[in-house]
Amino acid sequence: MTFEEALKKCEEYGQEQLLRFYDELSEPSKQRLLAMIEETDMSVIKYIGQGSASANRGVISPIECMELTEIREKEDSFRKTGLDAIRKGEVAAVLLAGGMGTRLGSDAPKGMYNIGLTKEVYIFQRLIENLQDVVKEAGVPVPLYIMTSDKNHDATVYFLLQHEFFGYDPDMVHFFKQEMAPAADRNGKIYLEEKDRISTSPNGNAGWYASMIRAGLDKEAREKGIKWINIFAVDNVLQRIADPVFVGAVIEGGYTSGAKVVRKAARDEKIGAMCLEDGRPSIVEYYEMTDELMDAKNEKGDPAYNFGVILNYLFSLDELDRIAKNSLPMHVVEKKIPHIDENGEHIKPEEPNGYKFEQLVLDMVHEMKSCLPFEVVREKEFAPIKNKTGIDSVESARELCKLNGIEL
Ligand code: UTP
Repeated sequence: MTFEEALKKCEEYGQEQLLRFYDELSEPSKQRLLAMIEETDMSVIKYIGQGSASANRGVISPIECMELTEIREKEDSFRKTGLDAIRKGEVAAVLLAGGMGTRLGSDAPKGMYNIGLTKEVYIFQRLIENLQDVVKEAGVPVPLYIMTSDKNHDATVYFLLQHEFFGYDPDMVHFFKQEMAPAADRNGKIYLEEKDRISTSPNGNAGWYASMIRAGLDKEAREKGIKWINIFAVDNVLQRIADPVFVGAVIEGGYTSGAKVVRKAARDEKIGAMCLEDGRPSIVEYYEMTDELMDAKNEKGDPAYNFGVILNYLFSLDELDRIAKNSLPMHVVEKKIPHIDENGEHIKPEEPNGYKFEQLVLDMVHEMKSCLPFEVVREKEFAPIKNKTGIDSVESARELCKLNGIEL
């Protein structure tokens, strides 16, 4: 893109400030900035001030969840069905590791965090060890796709190579990068991170399938005969991945997707709850939970919105292709955004100073024809690491690991 073309694009979106330092840049820096302006989707700015993406919710009603008692009764059959699918190579896993992990406060990718006490136990290691359990049980490797972002790709790949993928077959591991979105101030002006660089951040965890398509991995998956994709978050160090019982339950029930859920620890726990929205599967976020929803009862007389999602979903590849062109709601999130000011000084804000733009995987669930909420034992499968201390932290995850006999 030439300077004139870049200026035209910036003017179109009211973002001329991005070229403020252009004249003082070296030739390679000029080229870098022009390329970034060309790549950046500035149209996201229009979402500022449009109200929350969840404001236009449909009618929320309870969804039936498959609870532990039923799962235990049918476990043998589910396991067999799931293992058959895994052995036929129909199941792949996708690790969503493109996030910034800002709450944890480490500059390195979250998966590189060492939760060990007497030895090194990295988050990535824990996830791969969990997946290895299934590989051993099934006797076949499960393809593992890892989504990174511009911000953490090189560090992630280097780290996993250095640790020889913690014993996972490297031929079974594929990386792809998610897209980035610009970050803007409260007036909708996109920030510069450096004089030659726009401030960007990963565009949320819902872009993973679009990014897989862009990388040509959807075709590759199809050619391999993959029919189901289990996506999972980087930060839950206890989760079961490609869990045959879960896979089997979704297949036997004829669902197009499944969501692992845990029974809420408190009626106002900060966790999204599975529901139906206008008759389709959906998730009501904790901040959308009114007293009325918290107190609502289902047909059995149990709390109606009592099962929280843990970002571990199974999607049918056919269904992913069907919804690939649908646009998802955009979430405008207030964040602290480091940037340079009009004098070129670096600013590291203490308080939120602008917006990032994210699409969330929970909105993808709403696009599915059907979804099976599948209960798992909280203490055995849910140890998220969001913070260093307190709730959902390194500390709480360590306790849960110990409880499950995992040496740290
Ligand atoms: P979180 O919502 O916890 O975000 O991500 P985060 O970026 O990791 O952490 P904070 O909020 O900055 O502290 C849940 C999962 O979604 C992935 C994360 O890597 C994590 O596995 N994710 C999130 C992406 O892959 N891409 C994104 O753009 C955002």
